[in-house]
Amino acid sequence: MTNKTSNQMWGGRFAAGPDAIMEAINASIGFDKRLAAQDITGSRAHAAMLAAQGIITATDAEAIREGLLTVLSEIETGTFPFSVALEDIHMNVEARLKDIVGEAAGRLHTARSRNDQVAVDFRLWVRDQADAAIEGLCALMQALLTQAEAGADWVMPGFTHLQTAQPVTWGHHMMAYVEMFSRDMSRFQDARKRMNESPLGAAALAGTSFPIDRHMTAKALGFDRPMANSLDAVADRDFALEFLAASTICAMHLSRFAEELVIWSSAQFRFVALSDRFSTGSSIMPQKKNPDAAELIRAKIGRIMGAMVGLFTVMKGLPLAYSKDMQEDKEQVFDATDSLMLALAAMTGMVSDMTANRASLEKAAASGFSTATDLADWLVRELGLPFREAHHVTGSLVAMAEGKDCDLPDLTLADMQSVHAGIRADVFDVLGVHNSVASRTSFGGTAPDQVRAQVAHWKAKLA
Ligand code: ARG
Repeated sequence: MTNKTSNQMWGGRFAAGPDAIMEAINASIGFDKRLAAQDITGSRAHAAMLAAQGIITATDAEAIREGLLTVLSEIETGTFPFSVALEDIHMNVEARLKDIVGEAAGRLHTARSRNDQVAVDFRLWVRDQADAAIEGLCALMQALLTQAEAGADWVMPGFTHLQTAQPVTWGHHMMAYVEMFSRDMSRFQDARKRMNESPLGAAALAGTSFPIDRHMTAKALGFDRPMANSLDAVADRDFALEFLAASTICAMHLSRFAEELVIWSSAQFRFVALSDRFSTGSSIMPQKKNPDAAELIRAKIGRIMGAMVGLFTVMKGLPLAYSKDMQEDKEQVFDATDSLMLALAAMTGMVSDMTANRASLEKAAASGFSTATDLADWLVRELGLPFREAHHVTGSLVAMAEGKDCDLPDLTLADMQSVHAGIRADVFDVLGVHNSVASRTSFGGTAPDQVRAQVAHWKAKLA
């Protein structure tokens, strides 16, 4: 058992210091040092407000302000003496401030608790990351738009069940991801709006008897307003949960796209070539070019969703207001955020650099009876067949082509007429993949003109 002197911040009633294991489980400085800049920003706003309200003197406020700037520069330059005995970033900063400015430092914590302090620091941090996610998504969408515009009329197979379904355009496929990532962006924007309220001034849980001005600190920190209930202010971690939920959905989208890139870049598909900059080699097989970045992006959802589930599990069942359990909120959010930002950047790099193999895409688009639906639709439109019967006739023709080991356009008119006498030569017009995609002009459909309209819409919106 260690028997150090008691904690300099809260040790008034303690005769002995903590056991080493107590110190180890209690300390968060190892990870919450990432909140240093936010902690100092929050403290500066708080000190300025205390002075404006006459709670501390202008002289003390100025000493605190100057001192905090020195602390910040020490942290930025790596000379700050972090101490595990001081538990967390809040007490590390305050203790160092005391070394620098003396007694005035002790007045900074007037009308404040670490409970509202950590809530404000973490909120500011998550808010910055929501902004970074929005920016990262914007860059990724721009890269997708460039791909979509270049290949608005390149045909490729569209899949359901990973079986060839109908021809689509490369641009259309890229634009599907633009839609998905735009929803992610709006989730981050929406979460940001809701999180933008200040917990500062809630103090430990009940508010304070000092005449503080919570509107002033809220404004100084860029929040829309102070949170309306002091218990809720220190007990709430919805902002982190919403951020993780938005991150998880985004990571799921990234994972699906990454999976497609893994499949598409394989020798069996050859739909895309990933650049050397975003591929790796094998130490034993000289021919290999592996899509490692795509595979890692595909996997990142594991830890991001894990963080979300982890934090939900920490928060469930916690009584109001603050409990130390909530210190377990940070590491997972930090890890999930790092993973998401890296995945977004890597995906943006891969998409910007990749080259679609137009010839392979077109060849694959034409195989697998991809225009069978076009044939059935022609029978409905031109011969007035009920769709069910048209489906049946087309099925027979597909079986015939399969028997002859050829594709639908390779059948002769006589072959066709042997299944349905009314079929005419102009049926062949709809069996080509370019005509197929060009005909899908319904809103949101795969026709190149539709794709170009969507590209223009998003380019204007993101500009
Ligand atoms: N390190 C703590 C956390 O991350 C700060 C708040 C501690 N408050 C307290 N009353 N012990 O949650």
